[in-house]
Amino acid sequence: MTIRVIMDTDPGIDDAAALTMAINDPQINLELITTVAGNVTVDKTTKNALKIVRFFDQEIPVAMGAKKPLIKEFEDAARIHGESGMPGYDFPADLPAPMEISAVEALRDFILDSDEKITLVPTGSYTNIALLFSEYPEVKDNIERIVAMGGALGKGNMTSAAEFNVFTDPDAAKIVYNSGIPIVMIGLDITMKALITPETLTTIEKMNETGKMLHDIIINDGDNNSNGIAMHDVNTIFYLLHPEAIQTEKMWIDIVTDGPAIGETVGDIRGAYHNGKVNANVAVDIDAAAFNKWFIDEVSKMPK
Ligand code: RIB
Ligand code: CA
Repeated sequence: MTIRVIMDTDPGIDDAAALTMAINDPQINLELITTVAGNVTVDKTTKNALKIVRFFDQEIPVAMGAKKPLIKEFEDAARIHGESGMPGYDFPADLPAPMEISAVEALRDFILDSDEKITLVPTGSYTNIALLFSEYPEVKDNIERIVAMGGALGKGNMTSAAEFNVFTDPDAAKIVYNSGIPIVMIGLDITMKALITPETLTTIEKMNETGKMLHDIIINDGDNNSNGIAMHDVNTIFYLLHPEAIQTEKMWIDIVTDGPAIGETVGDIRGAYHNGKVNANVAVDIDAAAFNKWFIDEVSKMPK
């Protein structure tokens, strides 16, 4: 039974790696890719998504989405992902065209037309998803769950309080977390633990063309330390395929939408303040060795 997935992304180096896994794993049917401004402008995130689709000679539709957050000023992460958003590898230049309709229209069409419930995997800010729920709330009935990269119970990466995807558009995140749809929060609590190690990068570089491509872009990712490089978004796909490797806890998550802690994901960790209600399954621990082993194994099975 394949998992029917739509990814909403801001490639972005780790988004590109996540798209690579989702496109090629036989257990996942990636039906649509939508793009949003985030790591870089939406023109660039869209071009980068098309580069990955073209690299694998796929015909997965790509629809361009929001160029800025609902309310907050747009602030990119080019300091981490480079000006292009995906530097280091010479991708084919003959790219397919994006869809003529917007991301929100494409999301509505694909979700309403699906004969099975869709798993939504946002790996950028949640602007497109919030606009979708606001304009077409009827889509909610055909969404199985949202597996979202974003947030942190612990320290953020934009401020000490806030993680980039939620910080970029906290108002959108609040709409999504209040949507009533089951959410799995894949936050920094695990993505900063499951780093791609130098040994993993050395191994994949020589494995095949995909391994070389991933190596060449990942080594340019500014989100790194002496233990390795954070591939935040890839953790969403790892969760879909190996939930047993990730420990989660159910709780209510509130989103801070103003003040110095704007973008913080506040967890009711004792279940003390929301009458026992929960709106998220929050990833709190991960088998980092299993993540690296899976990453290498996935690359070894790539078609090129
Ligand atoms: O905080 C990490 C997130 O911000 C990842 O999705 C990365 O691609 C950036 O968008
Ligand atoms: Ca991302």
